[in-house]
Amino acid sequence: MTLAIMSALLDEQRGLLEQLSQPRRVQRAGRTFWCGQWAEQDVVLVLSKVGKVAAATTTTTLIEAFDVKRVVFTGVAGGVGQSVNVGDVVVAQAFIQHDMDSSPLFARYEIPLYGRDTLACDEPLSALLLEATHTGIKSARGHFHHENSVQDQRVHQGLIASGDQFVASAQGAAALVSGLKQAGHAPLAVEMEGAAVAQVCHDYGIPFAAVRTISDRADAQAHVDFSAFVQQVASPYALSIMREFIKLV
Ligand code: ADE
Repeated sequence: MTLAIMSALLDEQRGLLEQLSQPRRVQRAGRTFWCGQWAEQDVVLVLSKVGKVAAATTTTTLIEAFDVKRVVFTGVAGGVGQSVNVGDVVVAQAFIQHDMDSSPLFARYEIPLYGRDTLACDEPLSALLLEATHTGIKSARGHFHHENSVQDQRVHQGLIASGDQFVASAQGAAALVSGLKQAGHAPLAVEMEGAAVAQVCHDYGIPFAAVRTISDRADAQAHVDFSAFVQQVASPYALSIMREFIKLV
């Protein structure tokens, strides 16, 4: 039962790659797939690339060419939920595309011909990921120092909104949240791939779970210190979380 671990960022993938025994590199669809074993599990590591289409291609290739049976995603996201702060971690319960709008043919946010606007993550796999996240960040916390205080860091579980947009203004984030609220949704975070991965996994009946460390508040400061945060916080977290997760799956 091959497990795919998709990362959004090279820095995150680097730490995971060091865990693979006898890694084998396969090029396909312009992507580099790393196949190997981790804790006696068959694993494929790959970068999702950025945006929904790129992430969908990566996911489809994982399933069609690498016979992957489970997919887990690690990355960073912008916090838009009220108490979702930099350094917090969000485990996805479901995904929605905040830029999906085929109204008036279909309701705002509805995925045409799917009859729904959200796609749920796999519950058992997400429960394991949540457990791994709690344990993982506890052990990662001791290992680094960063100017962003991570003392009151929290783990959340809920809806993540994806779209082909880096949200970098408080106004933009507020509009996005208010639109979703009108349709009865309360997203905790925004990013650019998860809903696409969820949709492909839904199409193939493949269990999917995702975890995102909050790198910014999706405001005008969003791009500042992004790469430092990824290197110093998000990557050690991703590694620590996956180290625990691989023991549980
Ligand atoms: N990933 C991390 N931060 C983000 C943001 N502000 N918008 C979209 N994707 C993100």
